[in-house]
Amino acid sequence: MSEFIEPPQTAKTNCTAAQYRADYVRSLSDPDGFWLEQAKRLDWIDPPTIGGEWSFDPVEIKWFADGTLNLCHNAVDRHLADKADKTALIFEPDDPDGAVRTLTFADLHVEVIRMANALKAMGVTKGARVTLYMPMVVEGVVAMLACARLGAVHSVVFGGFSPEALAGRIIDCDSHFVITADEGLRGGKPIALNANVDAALDEHDTQVKGVLVIKHTGADITMKEGRDHWYADLASDEDCPCEPMNAEDPLFILYTSGSTGKPKGVLHTTGGYGVWTATTFHYVFDHQPDDVFWCSADIGWITGHSYVTYGPLLNGATQVIFEGVPNYPDHGRFWATIARHKVSIFYTAPTAIRALMREGDSFVTAHDRSSLRLLGSVGEPINPEAWRWYRDVPGEGRVPVIDTWWQTETGGVMLTTLPYAHAMKPGSAGLPFFGVQPQLVDNEGQVLDGAAEGNLCLTASWPGQARTVYGDHDRFVQTYFSTYTGKYFTGDGCQRDEHGYYRITGRVDDVINVSGHRMGTAEVESALVLHPHVSEAAVVGFPHDIKGQGIYCYVTLNAGDEGSDDLAAELRQWVRKEIGPVATPDRIHFTDGLPKTRSGKIMRRILRKIAENDYGSLGDTSTLADPSLVDRLIEGRVKS
Ligand code: WTA
Repeated sequence: MSEFIEPPQTAKTNCTAAQYRADYVRSLSDPDGFWLEQAKRLDWIDPPTIGGEWSFDPVEIKWFADGTLNLCHNAVDRHLADKADKTALIFEPDDPDGAVRTLTFADLHVEVIRMANALKAMGVTKGARVTLYMPMVVEGVVAMLACARLGAVHSVVFGGFSPEALAGRIIDCDSHFVITADEGLRGGKPIALNANVDAALDEHDTQVKGVLVIKHTGADITMKEGRDHWYADLASDEDCPCEPMNAEDPLFILYTSGSTGKPKGVLHTTGGYGVWTATTFHYVFDHQPDDVFWCSADIGWITGHSYVTYGPLLNGATQVIFEGVPNYPDHGRFWATIARHKVSIFYTAPTAIRALMREGDSFVTAHDRSSLRLLGSVGEPINPEAWRWYRDVPGEGRVPVIDTWWQTETGGVMLTTLPYAHAMKPGSAGLPFFGVQPQLVDNEGQVLDGAAEGNLCLTASWPGQARTVYGDHDRFVQTYFSTYTGKYFTGDGCQRDEHGYYRITGRVDDVINVSGHRMGTAEVESALVLHPHVSEAAVVGFPHDIKGQGIYCYVTLNAGDEGSDDLAAELRQWVRKEIGPVATPDRIHFTDGLPKTRSGKIMRRILRKIAENDYGSLGDTSTLADPSLVDRLIEGRVKS
């Protein structure tokens, strides 16, 4: 067991090793009993008596279907009884010299009611979809909770997405309302959020009738009469009760990339998601009442939904809301913020850890990290070297590190070690959370037992599971349940060791993970072929030291057009404009053709290998229509 590191001892933990063993067994043998008990973490208007009712063939998933509750009540109102004066949110602005804002649960309650009343004034009602395009400020969290209060379905679109991408997500769920800010701020640079909303709505046919604008930077912006409203003008303090919601009523839609087509609107419902995020937060982060929690994710991603807005607040936790970026004003920002707010639990992504590791230890050691007792990682595989640095330098070698594997579709953490119960293995996420039943299968669907490597499936439902793709249940079934009938297929490759520890090896489909952001290669290809000079495009990932994966684009041009550095730069800009900066191609490789089979199918395997600089294992190329193309592609490989 030499690769294993024993967890530190503590007198107080939410889960010991023995308790994990017993509860894990129970969660599989009596899932309904187990989860109905966990459901008591929440306040219900009508407590559920039914646990899971689900089938993966045909696909239908329900949990706690006879329960009624409201998650905003659970995240805010119910804490007023005993935690009204406890700090809920500590806002750390992009500019470290800017104003830190602290809200107690009582303050948060006031804010949420003001926001809910503003939404009501615009016409938002139960079941309406509301699109959020927000900076990482208190009002982002407040807006999500206000939607939940009214029973409206929030759809948060990351502020780094382009007007095009925003419009697509507004249209797909037929959203009539948008909440935004005049501008966002990241690393000292303004982000023109309101102008992007204007561009999205002006250039596309949407049904949006109300845009609520939060004043953040105070920039001069244009307001469209009748459509755009300043938040301050509509906010009011009148009573605004929480809407009673059935456990299976939708809570939110979050768009995520898959291997084909446009991003899918993954739908989560109220009861199961609430129980899952509340329970995982309690155990995975071993949350104690005096902790100061900080998850650095943006609310535009699932991590920000589950471990900024819902998980911590459902548990009555104190947390930091961070507007900025890890390298502004310098590479010590994370650690300075931890020192400033005495953060005890910190949760971030490997890409940030790798980037900061490269800058040297002095940015870390300059700041006091004695408040830290737990570090977490999420979003992509963390290489053992970065894992060790994270534990040894920021964590002073004394704190447990958890590597949590999960997905937008799983709602919350699925695989991890528990901080004080389990030995850690750098590079491995670890063990299944309660109720999680992982299975490895080979490409033919044969189940692999014991220590093995294969495709990761989940064979049983869990409360936090996504219920459908908004408006397209067939796509939900096709995407997740058709590769291996009767199983949820994650799209990830995975190794299991002889101790039952799981190590995620990365996506096995056409999804790439760039700095922890999921990107469908098909989306980048669609953007590229919209350019007037581009004939065809094939996009693959390649290993990138900091970002985990980079975006490598093979591009063929129309007859008579020539590749050049200028055109490559233009194509990069083009993709940024179509999708957003997160999708900026790293490498553009102009080629006179793409490797295709005689039936015209692009052989992506070959393109991947070439981008990865792994020519030894190109495999069988004899079925290619033009086998000589491979040598030309290797020769033309773009190295930087
Ligand atoms: C990857 C983010 C390795 C994985 C919460 C998954 C990880 C995808 C880990 C989901 C981890 C997430 N180790 N890989 N700890 N966590 N992933 O939907 O490929 O943005 O399928 O959810 O990220 O990304 P998503």
